[in-house]
Amino acid sequence: MDKFNIAIDGPAGAGKSTIARLVAGALGFIYVDTGAMYRAVTWKVQQEGLLPDQETEVAALAERMQIELVPGEEGQQVYVDGVDVTKAIRTTAITDHVSQIASYGAIRQLLVALQKQMAISKGVVMDGRDIGTHVMPDAEIKVFLTASVKERAERRFKEMQNNGTCTLTLSELEQDIARRDQLDQNREISPLRRAHDAVLMDSTSMTIEEVVDEILGLCKNKV
Ligand code: C5P
Repeated sequence: MDKFNIAIDGPAGAGKSTIARLVAGALGFIYVDTGAMYRAVTWKVQQEGLLPDQETEVAALAERMQIELVPGEEGQQVYVDGVDVTKAIRTTAITDHVSQIASYGAIRQLLVALQKQMAISKGVVMDGRDIGTHVMPDAEIKVFLTASVKERAERRFKEMQNNGTCTLTLSELEQDIARRDQLDQNREISPLRRAHDAVLMDSTSMTIEEVVDEILGLCKNKV
């Protein structure tokens, strides 16, 4: 089978990561979670004691740090300067500030260049907010995955309860998701948008398997 690229964009908690990982597994492709890269920068910013609004210093720090994404059995492992931050980047302390860090032009320029590099040899399933519009505008398959805010908050809540990382109530989580949607959709550079050629999938009343099957169905037309 010839390799091709798949871009999956959508708002927070729409299930992009789980679905992208399963699609990549089914096709033998590489899964790249770009949100993890913005989270990794946010982690380093906190580690170095910088404030998220120190844009110049944040940009300089991002230039110096090294982010590695390593495919693992349970998805993607993330390393910053050799330190495994896979779990640390999922805490609310990071989630609260990541959209601000991701709004900075210098940060986006740096990470988008790395992401484009990863996509060159094809066979990549990449998820994020600007993949179909900016990172891989030529991706053979583009999906814009969404679900209602309520449904997305409920899914995240269950997931966090299951892995024991739940520090918010359901309604706090819903507010947090709505706030991030707002920031990501309204930022100046590469806001969250459906690419004109992306297939819209509303997963509110779909199972993960149904979404994965639908995306694999789109892929059949490409091979
Ligand atoms: O996907 P995840 O929720 O982990 O992404 C965290 C944040 O990173 C998003 O809310 C968004 O602000 C930013 N992001 C982005 N562009 C991407 C991926 C993530 O701006 N391609």
